[in-house]
Amino acid sequence: MTAAVEIIGLSKRFGDQREVLRSIAMRIDVGERVALLGESGVGKSTLLNLIAGLERPDAGEIRLSGIPIQDLDEAAAAQLRAREIGFVFQAFHLVAHLQVWQNVAIPLLLNGRRAGDARAQALEMLAQVGLADRAQSLPRELSGGEQQRVALARALVHRPRLVLADEPTGNLDPATATRVLELIDTQVREHGAALLMVTHSAQAAAIAQRRVLLTPQGLSECP
Ligand SMILES: Nc1ncnc2c1ncn2[C@@H]1O[C@H](COP(=O)(O)OP(=O)(O)OP(=O)(O)O)[C@@H](O)[C@H]1O
Ligand SMILES: [Mg+2]
Repeated sequence: MTAAVEIIGLSKRFGDQREVLRSIAMRIDVGERVALLGESGVGKSTLLNLIAGLERPDAGEIRLSGIPIQDLDEAAAAQLRAREIGFVFQAFHLVAHLQVWQNVAIPLLLNGRRAGDARAQALEMLAQVGLADRAQSLPRELSGGEQQRVALARALVHRPRLVLADEPTGNLDPATATRVLELIDTQVREHGAALLMVTHSAQAAAIAQRRVLLTPQGLSECP
């Protein structure tokens, strides 16, 4: 079976600091849901950012759906990531001047879909997260929980094989966090996507089938 993502010998340091990640290995199969745990500053966001191409590794290999991205040129790597990855951030990161549906349509446009198609599909995805009636709103007109549902819609609309979520409920109150987590769980399942989710919450980790712990010594499976 092809892994949604496979990482081999991944290392990263910033400037002249000690290595944040040292020879990390990990594999997530298609459809698998994994929680990434670990103390603050240990490198969890760095690991997600490397997979998403927001940072560059010093060494090691990242394969998306079996394709080693370091063997591709920059444009091809960006295209592969745009197709295979959806990202949900702690701080939502919606584009402030774009309407909600336009935010959701971004990954479709990046993947070369026509505007009319992209709009229709964005609206359909918004309906799935219960926000059909907010399509024309601007992000700032929405609550935090609603904004995170938009971000989830944007992360899934192009049916990526891998969803990366970096503390997706970190900025939400407990009741809203519970609703957003349930939605992440059902949507990721329905789309058959793999999930790698950084979280400090036991409740969030419970939607995963596997839990892995990052420490300065490396990555290990939690029992
Ligand atoms: N762009 C950067 N430049 C310099 N240092 C960085 C950069 N990004 C991260 N670091 C450092 O790398 C280490 C790991 O940071 P990272 O954000 O990955 O931790 P984390 O596990 O996500 O922590 P938290 O749980 O607090 O979000 C920290 O020491 C951080 O200061
Ligand atoms: Mg982090």
